[in-house]
Amino acid sequence: MTHTSSPVSSAELDEIYAFAIDLGKRAGKLLLDTVEKRIDGGSAGDSALLASEEKDSSVDIVTQTDEDVEAFIRTEIQSKYPSHKFLGEETYAKGSSRDYIIDSHPTWCVDPLDGTVNYTHLFPMFCVSIAFIHNHVPQIGIIHAPLQNQLFTSCTGRGAWLNQTHRLPLLQKPSIPPLPANAPSGCIFACEWGKDRRDTADGNMYRKVESFLNMAAEVGGREGRGGMVHGVRSLGSATLDLAYTAMGAFDIWWEGGCWEWDVAAGIAILQEAGGLVTTANPPEDPDTAPIEDVRLGSRLYLAIRPAGPSETETGREGQIRTVREVWRRVRNLDYSRPGS
Ligand code: IPD
Repeated sequence: MTHTSSPVSSAELDEIYAFAIDLGKRAGKLLLDTVEKRIDGGSAGDSALLASEEKDSSVDIVTQTDEDVEAFIRTEIQSKYPSHKFLGEETYAKGSSRDYIIDSHPTWCVDPLDGTVNYTHLFPMFCVSIAFIHNHVPQIGIIHAPLQNQLFTSCTGRGAWLNQTHRLPLLQKPSIPPLPANAPSGCIFACEWGKDRRDTADGNMYRKVESFLNMAAEVGGREGRGGMVHGVRSLGSATLDLAYTAMGAFDIWWEGGCWEWDVAAGIAILQEAGGLVTTANPPEDPDTAPIEDVRLGSRLYLAIRPAGPSETETGREGQIRTVREVWRRVRNLDYSRPGS
């Protein structure tokens, strides 16, 4: 039996949500300030903001900004909620364990700067990503992409929002659009190249590329696997990919290799908006296998946007049909890890 910790009351959750929104706004402002300094400044101190160190490879980097913003967020959370646990990308990266360590306790799971490579190039798709997880469920998600002026927020039962004014998904009237009858055709497919660039025959990079080809190719191509998606997109930030899926801008997001802090807030927001999140890896029988709920630490994610009903199926049926169509076209990825 899974251990559960004592419930958080609705009033407490409201308070935590308000705190998290304010924290996300302030952390995003810190990111923006560093960008402004880089654009206007040029002093030795400002260029230190960009100094990056490699983690697992030359595309897996941490900048001083990642460190500073994580320290700010950690201090704020620890002084307001000293009994809550904190898991931040940069703190975790410094340890030697790669185990999945989130348990039933109230836990903050934070990526201070998702899209670090984008940030270093001033490609605007970078953000701070903050999730509050309790009893294994991401209950609050906050994503702030300050250069885009986009703040995504959600809390269980309180809806998912863009800039606190527009409910997600954005298209709701007269109803949320159904998924295309011939999905993945007609869908925007989002995916990421990720950081595993090993030139290994049939390794993750090759399996990803083969999957992308299958999704993109004309119907009838690729020995029947051609999906002829409407478009293929990569934002370079997993949590923003999920937020854009919650908006309805992306129909499908498929990715392997990122970590819980890259997805926790995005999953909270997408699920609250009515999206479906499951595993990237196709089961043995993609046509009939049950659709398992995403496991946060699995490093394998397939997300489908919120969908309304069509004349022939419910929104949920459309999402499940789309999951199976993706599974028929993608390869299994290998990102195993202990404890997830
Ligand atoms: C990365 C981004 C990217 C994903 C990588 C992540 P970071 O996060 O989310 O989209 O493909 O796997 O590590 O390093 O920029 O915080």
